[in-house]
Amino acid sequence: MKLRYFSHSAFQITTSAGHKILIDPFLSGNPTSPVKAKDVVADYIILTHAHGDHLGDGFEIAKRYNSTFICVNELAEYCKSKGFKAHNMHIGGGHNFEFGRVKFTIAHHGSMTPDNHYGGEPAGVIISAEGKNIYHTGDTGLFYDMKLIGEMTSIDYLLLPIGDNFTMGITDAAKAVELVAPKVAIPMHYNTFPVIEADPNEFKKLTESKGFNVRVLNFGEEIEL
Ligand code: NI
Ligand code: MN
Repeated sequence: MKLRYFSHSAFQITTSAGHKILIDPFLSGNPTSPVKAKDVVADYIILTHAHGDHLGDGFEIAKRYNSTFICVNELAEYCKSKGFKAHNMHIGGGHNFEFGRVKFTIAHHGSMTPDNHYGGEPAGVIISAEGKNIYHTGDTGLFYDMKLIGEMTSIDYLLLPIGDNFTMGITDAAKAVELVAPKVAIPMHYNTFPVIEADPNEFKKLTESKGFNVRVLNFGEEIEL
């Protein structure tokens, strides 16, 4: 199984069986992404919330590949209202898909679509496939229930924002790693715009001083999980 990071909160998981899952595909309008919407393929598109920097190019990609959106109920209904396929879920619920299991968690943030429709509650998501658990927190502030999430599911890879202003900054993100206690933490949602500039190596240094592992991915880098 492979994990590719496009920058911001956009990732792609490719399973050994060849399933392609995009998360928060903000590509064409994203100044830091090395690829654009036309360069990616998706069987499924998981959205943590409706903000434009997460819904991103989802519709353009889904139109091309007939992809299925996976997201909370209100956002799934919004996708369906635009003519797309969606699997409605909600926070606390999990479902087994052909590629693995998806479970939504809470996130403390907002969720309006770019055309000002309510996008439901913002969420984080745990994707379990091929024996690995990947927790993408979505956009969120720090919350203590991250400890519970880490206790209930042994997290291999924690993908979490460090850019501050809209989400956790470096100090809170390092605390989040302590609470979740993943095998590896991967920073995201930074350096896309001036207001979320942050040094991922500062996050790495602080988090590793607490005894945890951090892997900073280059924008466009793909790793084997
Ligand atoms: Ni957001
Ligand atoms: Mn965001």
